[in-house]
Amino acid sequence: MKNVFEAVDHYIEGLLTHEDAVLKGVVQSLMEAGMPQISVSANQGKLLNMLALLCRAKKILEIGTLGGYSTIWLARALPADGKLVTIELEPKHAEVAHNNIVKANLDSKVEFRVGKASEILLQLKEHGESFDLIFIDADKPSYPEYLKLSLQLSHSGTLIVADNVVRDGEVVKKNSKDENVIGAQHFNTMLSECKDVTATILQTVGVKGHDGIALAIVK
Ligand code: SAH
Ligand code: DHB
Ligand code: MG
Repeated sequence: MKNVFEAVDHYIEGLLTHEDAVLKGVVQSLMEAGMPQISVSANQGKLLNMLALLCRAKKILEIGTLGGYSTIWLARALPADGKLVTIELEPKHAEVAHNNIVKANLDSKVEFRVGKASEILLQLKEHGESFDLIFIDADKPSYPEYLKLSLQLSHSGTLIVADNVVRDGEVVKKNSKDENVIGAQHFNTMLSECKDVTATILQTVGVKGHDGIALAIVK
């Protein structure tokens, strides 16, 4: 089955979501820097882009930059006066991503914050920031905390998107010892119990394996 899911992912990509030279360059830059190839796929990137367009996002927050692949898909949906703040723990990742953002000609719209996401999110909150779309994609055990802080950085209508919440289907196992799975489980349960959002989870298959993307609209 895996092969057919990958083949269909490539088919969709060939029709609708082909990567341009800049996005291909991001994938290459990860390889050259020995960074993990855990960016969203092209089809998932296009979905992020379309979600940002749908909510007419002028201010986007991304938690987990890596090489800037999802950053580029998201920032390309911004209007001329739009801003994207992206948070990354590893200075080396932020440096590679910054190079890619410059190549994408998005330097004026993308603001980098290097450090622990939990600390930076608190700083943003103290500055009274709020965002139209928030993409959560950093360390999985911290997802529940990121959801809590994201809600405090939201307004009515904010779309919160979280990657990797199905983890190969492992989320249905009650006794998982994998801290990434446990993080996703706590996040998903928190979403289900949160009265301030309406939410669902999109199960995904394709070049990045079997996983899921949570979508939550703040009421
Ligand atoms: N959104 C990217 C992929 C992000 S991978 C894309 O799809 O293109 C996850 C990233 O989160 C990694 O670069 C990792 O260094 C970063 N990260 C891990 N823990 C973090 C933390 N506590 N705070 C901020 N970033 C963190
Ligand atoms: C991992 C992280 C991701 O953001 C992703 O999309 C896939 C895998 C990981 O840490 O294993
Ligand atoms: Mg991810």
